[in-house]
Amino acid sequence: MYKDLLLAYEGLINNENYEISLLANTSAFIYEHINNLNWVGFYNHIDNKLILGPFQGKVACNVIEPGRGVCGSSLVEKKTIVVDDVANHPNHIYCDFNSKSELVIPIIINDNVYGVLDLDSPVLSRFDNELVSFLEDVVSLLTKKLNMIKKK
Ligand code: SME
Repeated sequence: MYKDLLLAYEGLINNENYEISLLANTSAFIYEHINNLNWVGFYNHIDNKLILGPFQGKVACNVIEPGRGVCGSSLVEKKTIVVDDVANHPNHIYCDFNSKSELVIPIIINDNVYGVLDLDSPVLSRFDNELVSFLEDVVSLLTKKLNMIKKK
């Protein structure tokens, strides 16, 4: 199932030529096709902070400092972070009290963090290995496309 979805995503972004619409459609695509999510979106790395970008879901905090929250930790550590139960995570920032688990994947271009993809779920331990690996594949296609757009 994830294989077909990845092909569909590849087709969707094929003709995207603008960063803003690429990020907007990526968040909409994930939100539409993956169940049990209450928030999917991007925080972009601007002026050494994470700034809210295109997303699907409820209104969210607009600025996250490096090291703060799961997103800020992913920025500093430059790695994917899976939180099975946000209530047990000391560094989690609540944007929606319905959120129970969270996944953050950094988008790395030329060794710099361009931003992060953040997903929240109202279900505990929503982000199993298969789903994480699919979403990392999405981020890797997205990163390639962002690189192409930047080089134009
Ligand atoms: N929970 C995130 C904050 C962003 S919202 O979930 C949209 C965090 O701890 O970084």
